[in-house]
Amino acid sequence: MEEILKATPQHHIVRIGDTVRRPMYSWSASVHLLLQHLEAVGFDHAPRFLGIDDEGREILSFVEGVAGADGSKGPGFGAHVWAMIVPEAGLARSAQLLRQYHDAVADFLPPRGLPWATGSGAPGPEQIICHNDPGPWNVVWRGSAPVCIIDWDYAAPATPLDDVAYALEWSIPFVSDEECRTFRSGLFDSGIQSAWSFNLALRSRGLGSVYATMLNQKTVEGVKAQATTS
Ligand SMILES: Nc1ncnc2c1ncn2[C@@H]1O[C@H](COP(=O)(O)OP(=O)(O)OP(=O)(O)O)[C@@H](O)[C@H]1O
Ligand SMILES: [Mg+2]
Repeated sequence: MEEILKATPQHHIVRIGDTVRRPMYSWSASVHLLLQHLEAVGFDHAPRFLGIDDEGREILSFVEGVAGADGSKGPGFGAHVWAMIVPEAGLARSAQLLRQYHDAVADFLPPRGLPWATGSGAPGPEQIICHNDPGPWNVVWRGSAPVCIIDWDYAAPATPLDDVAYALEWSIPFVSDEECRTFRSGLFDSGIQSAWSFNLALRSRGLGSVYATMLNQKTVEGVKAQATTS
């Protein structure tokens, strides 16, 4: 029996038993290589790639837990997942998970010319294969632990800082209340009245320390400046 996880004209995602079936793109085979690398190096925080079904959909392992939807989809969407990153400890744990992913992918050397969502090409000297959409909505939580990063469609060569900047921008959050209400309503629905009630400096420092070897405070400030002006 198919249980619908998401049904939009572009994306029809279902669960069948312990598996998830998702539509494929021209670059999905590259993503499958990535998932296989993560499995080979023992990174347990990504779905396993299990094959392609008769309908041409990718088969991934279903990860038990609470996952969310993009806050831009309207009030209440994914509030439970946003709530997980309100406490600094939860925010730090999700940043740690991203860091673990970056460590696990560091020695993944995809063949040159593989297609990715952003085009084809091998990672440059400073690049890895980033997730490129590491927002709260793409993390599965079990209790207070972020256990899995899902939705790898946008994986592509980029610098680790690109992923970190994206995570910071969405999670600190480095934006106005107005933008939060529009795109991060889940934060408000989880009990936050104003983005400014967050201690932004403390939260940034928390993330910075999780990323100690990759990020220093100056870098965090740079990301913040970029996020607030863009
Ligand atoms: N491997 C998985 N294990 C458990 N649940 C999953 C898995 N993959 C997807 N889901 C569920 O299906 C939903 C949509 O999946 P996914 O994020 O991959 O698609 P999407 O179209 O990018 O959605 P969105 O734009 O909301 O992020 C997720 O929010 C999650 O609830
Ligand atoms: Mg998603």
